[in-house]
Amino acid sequence: SIGSGGRSDGRSESPSEKIAMVTAYDYTMARLADEAGVDMVLVGDSLGMVVQGLSTTIPVTLDEMAYHCRAVARALGRAHLTGDLPFMSYQVSPAQAVESAGKLMKEGACESIKLEGGEEIAEHVHRIVRVGIPVVGHVGLTPQSVHAFGGFKVQGKGDGADKIMADALAIEQAGAFAVVLEAIPPDLAAEITAALSVPTIGIGAGPDCDGQVLVCSDLLGLSRGHQPKFAKRFAELGNLAVDAFASYVSEVRGGTFPTASHSYKANGAKAARPAT
Ligand code: KIV
Ligand code: NA
Repeated sequence: SIGSGGRSDGRSESPSEKIAMVTAYDYTMARLADEAGVDMVLVGDSLGMVVQGLSTTIPVTLDEMAYHCRAVARALGRAHLTGDLPFMSYQVSPAQAVESAGKLMKEGACESIKLEGGEEIAEHVHRIVRVGIPVVGHVGLTPQSVHAFGGFKVQGKGDGADKIMADALAIEQAGAFAVVLEAIPPDLAAEITAALSVPTIGIGAGPDCDGQVLVCSDLLGLSRGHQPKFAKRFAELGNLAVDAFASYVSEVRGGTFPTASHSYKANGAKAARPAT
């Protein structure tokens, strides 16, 4: 658990150790991330883009979030699970925010929820925290507001910096236990990190945050097409996958797969699958 000071795997935890967070949307991916030792798994509403092929996160529903959170929760042995509240599941009122957060905890088996916004959403955060649900904030480039920003653009340049600092402070004051800083200049991220007593988790926010988060498909090099500047590809699994699919296609067409080693014997003891 985050903030408990102890770790189930027995590794030492120094106060300066950074928080490593990644997104996941299904059981298979979450199991791999958990096995690798990530601290926090986020079922982000980025699933709209990564899983559903949408161009923004706006259409994602609370039911869809709960479904994916449930699948991810079954995979986690040690990592903390945070679920995103999607667009219009919390903005309407503090009461709506509490109900939606509760649904992600109950139906999605989350251990905390994340929501976007600053001062305007602080009362909502406060009310969620008051019922015993840990909250992660998210300020800077908040993708649910992409149309208000006029695109996925860096935030907090020049005059905008004070507003983002005020937002982060408001969310901490409201009781959030961590705050994601997305797509802001590194200097501003460093100032916010110094000003807050809770950890900051950066994405496109430079090296001075208390932790980092990346989208799993970016990190693994599974994404095709445009990728943000901050999304370092730690592998090129997409290319490996295309190669593997292509090998399969050619072996099926060439009749070289399957062979005896992938086939059952007539007197075999067990059926592969129940008969249909
Ligand atoms: O939805 C998401 O993946 C996120 C992270 C990028 C912070 O909110
Ligand atoms: Na998100």
